[in-house]
Amino acid sequence: MSSQITVNARTVTIEAEPDTPLLWVLREQLGLTGTKYGCGVAACGACTVHLDGMAVRSCTLPVEGVGASQITTIEGLVSPEAKAVQAAWIELDVAQCGYCQTGQIMSAVVLLQDNPAPTDTEIDEAMNGNICRCATYQRIRQAIHAAAGTLKG
Ligand code: FES
Ligand code: FES
Repeated sequence: MSSQITVNARTVTIEAEPDTPLLWVLREQLGLTGTKYGCGVAACGACTVHLDGMAVRSCTLPVEGVGASQITTIEGLVSPEAKAVQAAWIELDVAQCGYCQTGQIMSAVVLLQDNPAPTDTEIDEAMNGNICRCATYQRIRQAIHAAAGTLKG
C-alpha cells in the first residue's frame, strides 16, 4: 500500500502494509540505517526516533500511526540540543560498541529540549528505557551534563 510520510523534513512516498513498524520503513525503504533494531518490543530503546519532537520507539509504531507527524531520525538531527549532545558524545568518547547509541542520543536530545539542566536523577529517569549492554551509563550521564553546559553558554 502506498502512503506518504515526512522524515527529516522531506515528504516521501512509501510502499508498506499499514501495520509495518516504522523502523523497517526507515531502514529498508529509506536507507536510514542509523536507527537500530534491538528487541522489537519497545524494551531497549535502540530504535528511538522523534515524532513531532517526542521520543518514540519505531519498532512498535505502525507506519499508519504516523500520519502527518514529523519524523526525525539520527540522520536529520539539526537542533542546538542535538548538536550539543553529539559534540559531547564525541568529546567524552561515550560509545563502546555503539549499537545503542543512536537511541541514547535521540532520548538525550528530547530530555534537554524539555529540561535544559537535568539532575543525575532526572537523567536516569529520562534515559531509563535506553539499554546499553556495554554499560556506558556513566559516560552518557556525563555527556548530557556537558551538553547542558554547552547550551547554557
Ligand atoms: S528495538 Fe525498539 S525498543 Fe528495542
Ligand atoms: S555502546 Fe554497546 S550497547 Fe551501548
